Amino acid sequence: MSEVITILRRFVVFEGIDGSGTTTQLARLSRRLESAGAAWSSSSEPTNGPVGRLIRQALSGAFMARPETVARLFAADRGEHLYGEAGIVERVGRGELVVSDRYVFSSLAYQGLTCGADLPASLNAPFPLPELLLFFELDPEVSAARMSSRSSLEIYENLAFQRRVAAAYADVIDSYKGSGMTVVRLDAAAGPDAVEEDVWAAVSPLLSRPRM
Ligand code: TYD
Repeated sequence: MSEVITILRRFVVFEGIDGSGTTTQLARLSRRLESAGAAWSSSSEPTNGPVGRLIRQALSGAFMARPETVARLFAADRGEHLYGEAGIVERVGRGELVVSDRYVFSSLAYQGLTCGADLPASLNAPFPLPELLLFFELDPEVSAARMSSRSSLEIYENLAFQRRVAAAYADVIDSYKGSGMTVVRLDAAAGPDAVEEDVWAAVSPLLSRPRM
């Protein structure tokens, strides 16, 4: 990447296909950060704010929206998540380690498939990158088996689409080589305890560093 990219220090992002375990691992990491006495917070995208709730309705199929509209909603939700009151920028600014379950890489992978690469790329280019990206690698067949017990599925939660998302994620993440963001790939097929250790090994060094 040639353009200048802002990296937001103390900002950590979890990414992976549906069912890769990011939500479970964020809960486990939260417990460890709490026990370590760290200043931290976490949130997720889509957020619980009004735009995030609208996105959830679109994902559930409650109303039909054009793929381009969905891409714009995700970017609008992200803008609030970053810059709104008690948003990511404010929280890292007061010294917290901030962890987000999903961020721009989800839009580049998922919306890149549904409405083409250009619109998600331009909508998301202005957003800063996290200091650390944890990518939960999982075979889509395994995630489909994990999700088979869920009572309701969102529009993206089918095996054929998740296979395409997995391939898109690989390309998206490769495109950030040389950006200055640290990318750690985790074997999300390992048991939850093993993944928790891998997450902690990647995240905990950020805690022992002096604030800048
Ligand atoms: P998530 O909350 O991780 O899934 P779950 O409801 O299973 O906990 O994410 C909801 C869906 O939104 C997921 O299929 C990924 C999708 N998504 C996008 O398509 N683009 C985005 O920018 C984001 C943040 C999520």
